[in-house]
Amino acid sequence: PSAVAVLTAAGSGARLGLGYPKALAQLAACSLVGHAASRLCASGEITQIVVTAPREHLEAVTHALDETPGLTVPWRVVEGGPSRQASVAAGLAALVETMSPSVPYDVVLVHDAARPLASPDLVRRVVAAVRAGAGAVVPGLSVTDTVKTVGPVSPSGAEGEGDSTGSVTGSPEPSLEQVTGTVDRTPLRAVQTPQGFRWDLLLRAHAAGHDRAHDEATAATDDSSLVEALGEPVFVVAGEAGALKITTTHDLAVAQVLVSSSAD
Ligand code: CTP
Ligand code: MG
Repeated sequence: PSAVAVLTAAGSGARLGLGYPKALAQLAACSLVGHAASRLCASGEITQIVVTAPREHLEAVTHALDETPGLTVPWRVVEGGPSRQASVAAGLAALVETMSPSVPYDVVLVHDAARPLASPDLVRRVVAAVRAGAGAVVPGLSVTDTVKTVGPVSPSGAEGEGDSTGSVTGSPEPSLEQVTGTVDRTPLRAVQTPQGFRWDLLLRAHAAGHDRAHDEATAATDDSSLVEALGEPVFVVAGEAGALKITTTHDLAVAQVLVSSSAD
């Protein structure tokens, strides 16, 4: 049996604002997608990688991977879809095409080019947990910020409920939100990629969630939520701070610091 990976790189990177896809952003002389792919290879667990790219950038992503050292397993670039979920589905379809009956896939990882520094160790941890019997595995980190829920400012709450001693008077700025509660963060986890699945389970989860994939607003933002929707359990392994998601230029600057202070 073999473990294969879908690496998503078909987003536009609007919030990073480079004018080209985020996956092609450079981090210490390598593209984000190249960093992610080479670390998947370095785990020694993955036998094939399918990378999703935007239609207009298929060649550029292929070129970026051609230039990446350490891609030791077969890889292929396919066209992504209108949402991350649709892109993963396209990657899975490409993997179905190439599966040989003599070497079936047992594990599939789904990883984002937007997390270029997820380590080979993390990849191994996720694959090992799936092989040990967890059908669906996500890396998770405890949440360190205090988390609040908010809503629109309520007319009564804004007046200070008759507190005449306060020095603040009048209505707050219309741009303010009002806190409606504080969430117990003990059971919260911020989850990352790579996420790992039993091959047949992820195929079933995507097939069942297929109707939502065409619209970014309804699509799932990760793959494990599609497994949850089937009523199947999802398990958490320790994530890593270094596997941070690059969304903004701030995140890219943090990743620059991390990559220049590490050996690889
Ligand atoms: N992705 C994808 N196909 C899409 C949308 C996103 O393959 N239609 C991938 C992205 O390339 C990224 C991952 O999903 O690796 C997570 O998405 P996100 O961080 O939102 O990246 P972008 O969509 O590129 O960024 P933005 O939302 O700022 O445009
Ligand atoms: Mg996006």
